[in-house]
Amino acid sequence: SSRSKLIGVGTYLPEQVVTNADLEKRVDTSDAWIRERTGIVQRHLAAPHETAAFMATEAARGALAHAGIEAGVVDAILLATSTPDQAFPATAVRVQAALGISHGFAFDLAAACSGFIYALSVADALIRTGQVRTVLVIGSEVYSRIVDWSDRSTCVLFGDGAGAVVMQAGAVDGPGLLSTHLHSDGSTGDLLYVDGAVGRRECSGFLRMNGREIFRHAVSKLAGAVDEALAANGLSYADIDWLVPHQANKRIIDAMGKKLGLPPERVVVTVDRHANTSAASIPLAFAEAVGDGRIKPGDLVLMEALGGGLTWGSALLRM
Ligand code: ACO
Repeated sequence: SSRSKLIGVGTYLPEQVVTNADLEKRVDTSDAWIRERTGIVQRHLAAPHETAAFMATEAARGALAHAGIEAGVVDAILLATSTPDQAFPATAVRVQAALGISHGFAFDLAAACSGFIYALSVADALIRTGQVRTVLVIGSEVYSRIVDWSDRSTCVLFGDGAGAVVMQAGAVDGPGLLSTHLHSDGSTGDLLYVDGAVGRRECSGFLRMNGREIFRHAVSKLAGAVDEALAANGLSYADIDWLVPHQANKRIIDAMGKKLGLPPERVVVTVDRHANTSAASIPLAFAEAVGDGRIKPGDLVLMEALGGGLTWGSALLRM
């Protein structure tokens, strides 16, 4: 048996930055409203060539370079996305091809904003059972293509981007993923969904959200997943060095930080610059804090997310 060790991180953000002031020109909204309700100041929006596969590939290349390994070492690619380039083949196999890999396997996972935690959990299981040794876990999203730009209550909230990590089998008592915890409850599926599917031409294909209800569920469900992760490892709030939450809304992030008793400087925040990038938000935030030296070897990192499904979950990682 082995533990899944983190050996590299990488990111990709579209070149185009759209500020709240830019949005004021095309949507009936204001910088003040967006900042106060969400903490968002700007977002990156993808150009046509910046597809989920393109951004995932760039993030993956960065993570492989950071890990100092060749693409050929990768046994599996798990890509969390709700905005795949095509219904099939999976966007993950497009990434596999772009990286020049033709062995092992690659597949997509759909769990909306919890997708990265889900993918990390599956990667961990594959590594622990010895089925694979080295896995690319990626979140890549192009929500600008599924938001309804005529619905101001949702279109201002999202951004595009990709983040990737490389997980590799390591010593069972060494650093790595301590545990992951996944949940879903389909009875709340209509709170946040995309109205459409391939071939269903009567549908809009746009994201629909009951923001207030999501907010109501978010903190209690996230707190439950966090308590579960700590209890499973005999740890307490005081042991957490870093909270890397899904970046949906600054108010939800602040509420979680407060619940854990963490000072703001121990909570990684990118929602101000990236907005909500769904499955990409945790690896983007995590990679930023690893890259700038905030998160260090030995640190205990808590990740948590909630999204459409509803799906939610947590992961505890010893660096
Ligand atoms: N600009 C200006 N005014 C707006 C905008 C906008 N972009 N959007 C809505 N409004 C108006 C509404 O029309 C409403 O006006 P009214 O009072 O005259 O009717 C007013 O602002 C208040 O609207 P609410 O929806 O009640 O605003 P609320 O305080 O609930 O904030 C928000 C909305 C930010 C969406 C909040 O509910 C929220 O953050 N919810 C959680 C959503 C979330 O995090 N989703 C993602 C999680 S899952 C995932 O990541 C996919």
